[in-house]
Amino acid sequence: LTLTGCGQEAKPAQAGELLRSKAKLPAPFQAELPIPPTKKPLRSDAKADYYQVVQRKASIEILPGLKTEIMGYDGLLPGPTFDVRSGRTTIIEQVNQLDVATVVHLHGGHTPAPSDGWPLDLIMPENGGHGGHHMMGDGDTTMGKRTYTYPNTQRAATLWYHDHTMDYTAPQVYRGLFGLHIIRDDEEDNLPLPKGDREIPLVIADRAFDADGSLLYPALPTGPGVEPKYMEGVIADVTLVNGAPWPVHEVDAVRYRLRILNASNARRYELAFDRPPATFVQIGSDGGLLDKPIDHASLVIAPAERFDVIVDFTQYQPGDEVTLINKLDGNANVMRFRIARKAVDDTRIPDKLSSYAVTPRPSGAVRREWRFRRGNAGDHRGWTINGKAFDPKVMQAQVPLDQYEIWTFVTDVHHPVHVHLAPFQVLSRGGSSKLSAYDHGWKDTVDIRPAEVVEVLVRFSAHKGKYLIHCHNLEHEDMAMMAGFETV
Ligand code: C2O
Ligand code: CU
Repeated sequence: LTLTGCGQEAKPAQAGELLRSKAKLPAPFQAELPIPPTKKPLRSDAKADYYQVVQRKASIEILPGLKTEIMGYDGLLPGPTFDVRSGRTTIIEQVNQLDVATVVHLHGGHTPAPSDGWPLDLIMPENGGHGGHHMMGDGDTTMGKRTYTYPNTQRAATLWYHDHTMDYTAPQVYRGLFGLHIIRDDEEDNLPLPKGDREIPLVIADRAFDADGSLLYPALPTGPGVEPKYMEGVIADVTLVNGAPWPVHEVDAVRYRLRILNASNARRYELAFDRPPATFVQIGSDGGLLDKPIDHASLVIAPAERFDVIVDFTQYQPGDEVTLINKLDGNANVMRFRIARKAVDDTRIPDKLSSYAVTPRPSGAVRREWRFRRGNAGDHRGWTINGKAFDPKVMQAQVPLDQYEIWTFVTDVHHPVHVHLAPFQVLSRGGSSKLSAYDHGWKDTVDIRPAEVVEVLVRFSAHKGKYLIHCHNLEHEDMAMMAGFETV
């Protein structure tokens, strides 16, 4: 079923345009790996925890000796981590003290439509700013703040939250509007996996810096007939992990659990260790635990994907250093682990992690096809889905709740495809039901290679309203590779 002869060459995985920093860059492995702070609720009652987040500018030191102005949740890059329980509601008041309009989306969340972050449900700046590029639109716009309700009625999983403002998601995420939202449950807590400070989030994002330390991001020319310059996506020459450039982290010679998120706008990574025997034992995917662990010598991770892995450092000696590298970029550095000491390890990776239902292909499932292509639609130059540029007034599908559907994604070049509201299971790739090593478990983002066809099984439940399917290369998304659908 792989498309051939359609005139599209298979491109190398790194298809974006590289932005090069003008600032003096530090040597790698100097900065300590930061761990984003866990957000504390303002109050709690029987059912819910209540939080407030202030979106604001901040001037922070990312490169040594230079100040970088960011737009951050609570002024942080990444924002604070929400650490919540499955089934317990999280209510977050988001205050916008920036000078542009914003929208917050919980990526991977089973979220009611009014809180899902429709790209025109804008939060206008509190200080009476005019919202930058944005006018009061057709969405449900609020002034200064907005309260988002996340029921967290889903399994334990590593989710993340980020900006989702129509046409400006890429620059606003790039400037700092992203953070983790971790859901925990009893099933996962009861497994003998590494916990506490042996469970580490790694949020990987590439950025480029001007000579004065400010973030470099191209102005994307838009408007009728304008050919955008950064059409393929922005990739940059500094790799940040949890906001620090090529950091180092000291570990004991034991097993660690790493929750890896690729928060980059467009860059893919093939993560590997430079020094055996460390590999990755995957225990979870976007939507939580796998049924059983999968071994990977390397890990290909596209924008917005999450891999939950166990890495075993027990074979190393104190003083050893193991570097996490990106094989897609000539073994470029990502970060380093430094083995500090031998220590007791009573963890184990069970052969059986979870028993989620792998649903056989249901007969009579409704089929829909989503074609992701470069294209012009009227005056729009950019990317399209089913030949259409994103139009917030157009719903491309009416999807009944509680019904199995098989969605087919078809691409021209490489696109990481993301669906809101419900996770899916990959059924086939390139016409074969033999999946890639990275397709297992519940996914909400699936990387579709050039001229490839992937089928997924999806079923939406509980929430009626407007939701999105889009490419998670954020420049593709802003150049309209997004479509609304309505659950009914
Ligand atoms: Cu991570 Cu619609 O987004
Ligand atoms: Cu794309």
